[in-house]
Amino acid sequence: MTTGERKDDRAGKITNKEHLVVSKIRNGTVIDHISPGMSPLVLKILGIGPGSKEAVSMAMNVHSSKMGKKDILKVEGKFISDEELNRIALIAPEATINLVENFEITRKFRVTPPEVVENVIGCPNQHCISNSNEPINSRFRISAEGRRVVAKCDYCGKKLTNLQDYI
Ligand code: CTP
Ligand code: ZN
Repeated sequence: MTTGERKDDRAGKITNKEHLVVSKIRNGTVIDHISPGMSPLVLKILGIGPGSKEAVSMAMNVHSSKMGKKDILKVEGKFISDEELNRIALIAPEATINLVENFEITRKFRVTPPEVVENVIGCPNQHCISNSNEPINSRFRISAEGRRVVAKCDYCGKKLTNLQDYI
């Protein structure tokens, strides 16, 4: 390793430790320990995108002592419902939620996968009734197989494991 590389590495860790990667928020929701690279899809799950008014900061693929690498999302001024937040477990089962009020963390919890999700996952089966012209919401039942989250279409029984490809 050259001196230059070592310096970069050390600088990255110091920045993380001192929380300079993304500044602290006054009020809102911090979603930490997101599986690396998943934060854009987490925003999609939360319905945050073009047209949204919230101030959002995102850190992708930053150093984490627990996970190696992780993503972080901070949504200022918004307290997201537990139901919405738990959908994050579909693609980032290790995510932790921190609710912040006046700069203090007032609640911290791990996401838990919901039993059923409607209109979040699209069924890849072309013949599934959820893909017909009928006004039918997609609906998947969620279960855990070991550390993997599995979704099964309530209409056609199609089983999915790489959920990030269908959100
Ligand atoms: N955070 C924030 N604004 C605040 C307080 C905390 O953005 N006013 C963020 C921190 O930057 C961190 C997360 O919320 O990303 C959790 O904060 P904290 O519990 O202080 O950190 P850790 O102890 O490292 O968390 P954990 O035990 O969950 O790893
Ligand atoms: Zn289906």
